[in-house]
Amino acid sequence: MSYQEKQMDRRKFLTTSANAAIIAPMIMGRGPFRFAPSGKPKKYCLVGTGTRGISMWGHRLVQNYGDVVEFVGLCDRNPGRLENAKRYMGIDVPVYLDTEFDRMIRERKPDTVIVTTTDCFHAKYICRAMELGCDVITEKPMATDEKMCQDIIDTEKRTGRHVRVTFNYRYNPEAEKIAEILNSGELGQVTSVDFNYFLNTDHGASYFRRWHGFKQYGGSLWVHKATHHFDLLNWWLGAEPMEVNAHGDLRKYGWNSPFRGKNCRTCPHTSKCDYYWDITQNDYSMRLYVDNEKYDGYLRDACLFREQINIWDTMSANIRYHNDILLTYSLNCFMPYEGYQVGFNCSNGRLDVRVYHSQPWEQKALSDFRVSPLFSESRTFSLSESEEHTAGKGGHWGADDKMQNMIFRNTADPMEQTAGVRAGSMSIIVGIAARRSIEWERTVQVDELLKA
Ligand SMILES: NC(=O)c1ccc[n+]([C@@H]2O[C@H](COP(=O)([O-])OP(=O)(O)OC[C@H]3O[C@@H](n4cnc5c(N)ncnc54)[C@H](O)[C@@H]3O)[C@@H](O)[C@H]2O)c1
Repeated sequence: MSYQEKQMDRRKFLTTSANAAIIAPMIMGRGPFRFAPSGKPKKYCLVGTGTRGISMWGHRLVQNYGDVVEFVGLCDRNPGRLENAKRYMGIDVPVYLDTEFDRMIRERKPDTVIVTTTDCFHAKYICRAMELGCDVITEKPMATDEKMCQDIIDTEKRTGRHVRVTFNYRYNPEAEKIAEILNSGELGQVTSVDFNYFLNTDHGASYFRRWHGFKQYGGSLWVHKATHHFDLLNWWLGAEPMEVNAHGDLRKYGWNSPFRGKNCRTCPHTSKCDYYWDITQNDYSMRLYVDNEKYDGYLRDACLFREQINIWDTMSANIRYHNDILLTYSLNCFMPYEGYQVGFNCSNGRLDVRVYHSQPWEQKALSDFRVSPLFSESRTFSLSESEEHTAGKGGHWGADDKMQNMIFRNTADPMEQTAGVRAGSMSIIVGIAARRSIEWERTVQVDELLKA
């Protein structure tokens, strides 16, 4: 089938009445969720008691949602981190090793399992939890390759259980403002998008110190990190990806350094390494990771110049969406600042946005917007710390609170920010296709990887 025919076929699939009724809300992220209204606490088990598990999905829930959330079990492959989780979360519940996951579900009978393990194990727990009769809340990325993704789609259909994917970036004030401007129709239809994401030498480098530096664990940053960006783009555009062509290089980390060690604590090169990080100065990381190295050998301060690192730090891609929008995307991981710039080229003008997450200069505004209609004056404005960013409390400028209120208190979802398996799949599949495009040295069609 030719490209044009494929495109027509895809459009037909998405717009026929029966499919449109199911898919349109799912493109936007609304799935048929059945989370009980507040009142009686629901029972939760948490699998993956690393930093994200015990903080965002652990301590935070105990503190803020104790009336509707009751933890009944914790699971991890590291027994030391399980004990640390109980202390940190301030709960006393039975703990289970990874090999005892089924027993935990049978004994503790949770309504919902929260999945916050290393990325490559998400799919295994998501599917098994559904098979054992539970709903699931999972951290991004929902899965790390196309087979795992298809397994989740099929298991959800087969079991009738539901998966919620926690795309907290959708709730950031900039993300919401962009959605609002695009949805207002002021600039007409989006025809193409230019999106550049910058990771700095602190946060960006941190991915290369841990399991994220290996495709087999995080699917590469095309999946682990860019899933956030592709989800935003899919959500903003109300579109599904069709075709991906990508390139990637490793230019700074991994084998690029003339020297390397095993980890920072034991390294003989600390005085000349710009990336030296002394984990012993951080009590939280010492308790969570260093104290528990003896169980699994997980070094949180591993050398980011390890020769085995097999992901990319310099990436670009071209993506075509089902509704003919073209996306030019890049992700660079050793920049002097962190954030993104995005430009929407529209039939009646252009929207430019620059978002500042971290930079070495004093930066008052956290984002700058320019709305430029064709043939009339443009206007500019900024979102600042003092206004929208403090409207909500808590992490990520109020985004985490907003998302958790929707999940645990069923607050209204007027912008359709709730994401399920369809949105989870459509975001990771762009990154998975990009990774395959580099590995196979050709353009990849999304429907080569996933059944519609
Ligand atoms: N949405 C966000 O902004 C955001 C931010 C940070 C992390 N995350 C996600 O949260 C998840 C956890 O990240 P993290 O930073 O806490 O990592 P981490 O390394 O601190 O924790 C991972 C935990 O999973 C455990 N684990 C590994 N394999 C396991 C297995 N097979 N069975 C059970 N437990 C296993 C490890 O022992 C560890 O305790 C990741 O999927 C990551 O993508 C999301």
